[in-house]
Amino acid sequence: MKRGRVAIILASSLLLLCDRPRGLYKGLLGSQYNSKASTLLLALPSAEAPPPPPFLQQQQHPRRKMAVLLLVAVLAAAVLASSLLLRWNEVRYSRRRGLPPGTMGWPLFGETTEFLKQGPSFMKARRLRYGSLFRTHILGCPTVVCMDPELNRRTLASEGAGFVPGYPQSMLDILGPNNIAAVHGPLHRAMRGAMLALTRPTMIRAALLPKIDAFMRAHLHGWAGRRVDIQEMTKEMALLSALRQIAGISAGPLSDALKAELYTLVLGTFSLPINIPGTNYSKGLQARKKLVAKLRQMIADRRSSGCAQDDMLDALLSGNEGTRAKLNDDQIIDLLITLIYSGYETVSTTSMMAVKYLSDNPKALEQIRKEHLDIRKGKSPEDALDWNDYKSMTFTRAVIYETLRLATVVNGLLRKTTQDVEMNGYVIPKGWRIYVYTREINYDPFLYPEPMVFNPWRWLEKGLESHPHFMLFGGGARMCPGKEVGTVEIATFLHYFVTRYRWEEEGNNTISKFPRVAAPNGLHIRVQDY
Ligand code: HEM
Repeated sequence: MKRGRVAIILASSLLLLCDRPRGLYKGLLGSQYNSKASTLLLALPSAEAPPPPPFLQQQQHPRRKMAVLLLVAVLAAAVLASSLLLRWNEVRYSRRRGLPPGTMGWPLFGETTEFLKQGPSFMKARRLRYGSLFRTHILGCPTVVCMDPELNRRTLASEGAGFVPGYPQSMLDILGPNNIAAVHGPLHRAMRGAMLALTRPTMIRAALLPKIDAFMRAHLHGWAGRRVDIQEMTKEMALLSALRQIAGISAGPLSDALKAELYTLVLGTFSLPINIPGTNYSKGLQARKKLVAKLRQMIADRRSSGCAQDDMLDALLSGNEGTRAKLNDDQIIDLLITLIYSGYETVSTTSMMAVKYLSDNPKALEQIRKEHLDIRKGKSPEDALDWNDYKSMTFTRAVIYETLRLATVVNGLLRKTTQDVEMNGYVIPKGWRIYVYTREINYDPFLYPEPMVFNPWRWLEKGLESHPHFMLFGGGARMCPGKEVGTVEIATFLHYFVTRYRWEEEGNNTISKFPRVAAPNGLHIRVQDY
């Protein structure tokens, strides 16, 4: 793209220089002049060409000409240097035998700009040209993108064969050395075991669902008559609900302080790892420091108080969460931060987009509302949802999965090779990133006929949830341990939202889908009692 633009400038400069005076007027005077006057001029024999107007005569001054010549020379050198750099970069990589096809772009920057600008089209164009496995250089690393569903499934299942998580440095630094994406082998198994024990169905039924229910009831109280930014409200919901489950923290000064630090921390994980005061990365590291201090204090208070609180923190401190390895305080702190972080954007964005899709699809809204009103029929307004209620929400589950599919909250998963590995006959060198790009599976017309249509009913018919290429929650040894908790949270939110309220979108709401699903100016709705 850049090369193309430079070449056009260079070509026009050359034309400008080589042209005779009448051509020069044409180039300089622009299209209005060109359309009439230049036709006239070109029709005239050269000898009869009138002298150029005074304001153009100065263009022919020798110093001016020198400057243009110099500019052209610089541009030519730039184009040549760029071509050589690009060529050198390609040759450097193509010396390695067995790499998949593809291009590596500029040294250091690779093809990051194109990738961020073009998003999913970048991937589609390369797949058309090189096939489902190709090489590129994005986000600072040589990367192999895999868009083959079966190969993706096998890659996620092969952590032991040399594919470990390969998330960006800023994320690893801010989430801490013991965060689950930074550890593998026995420590990963220990941390994951603790996580699974905290989120297993018996735990959800007995401890988490009552907390989630109480939280949603309060969070969704008093919206009638208000204009609500549903993006803002679902973000707050995901954070505060996690705090309630983890340490029994309700809305108040402590949750406000934690919320501010957590927002800063999340922003930092998406930044370049440049530790200069004022950058998001530096602010993220500061927020981590403050959060760690607060969590350490919380742990100390728990130990000294001696009274049981029946939350995740208690289970982790007592080692009663059902895993063999007892975690130390540093590991517990990073695990708590990971728990909040992992569920934050996934749950909030899916809840927001479910509201959006339901607004746009009255038939689906009617059916989900009926499902929830039926559940409420046997209950008084104060009665909480229980596990059986949740299990009966089959259409709601379908709405959540269809939302996750269509809004594509997770585009793909990053892995890093710990040794040279073989993929479809190619050799991927040690230290390269593998982008397990799952986004396109969501739009595969064989798996999801009419893939761009919001059709929750498709999830009721085909057992899609158990299809081997179902990867909305990842796969293999790192399959999301919060899958069920996340679904319970979104389902409970939808329960209180559709049974209490009707709503209409208000204002000019737009949704961007890449690199993250978001409503850049908020998603505003006018809410009324149902
Ligand atoms: C709709 C909601 C959610 C979606 C779509 C989702 C999606 C995912 C995906 C795709 C992965 C795989 C990452 C990888 O392989 O690199 C993952 C991992 C993970 N998720 Fe979720 N997630 C959701 C909710 C949650 C919640 C609520 C929690 C916490 C309670 C959570 C905790 C985790 C953790 C800790 C991992 C890392 C597991 C490991 O590395 O072993 N997730 N999630």
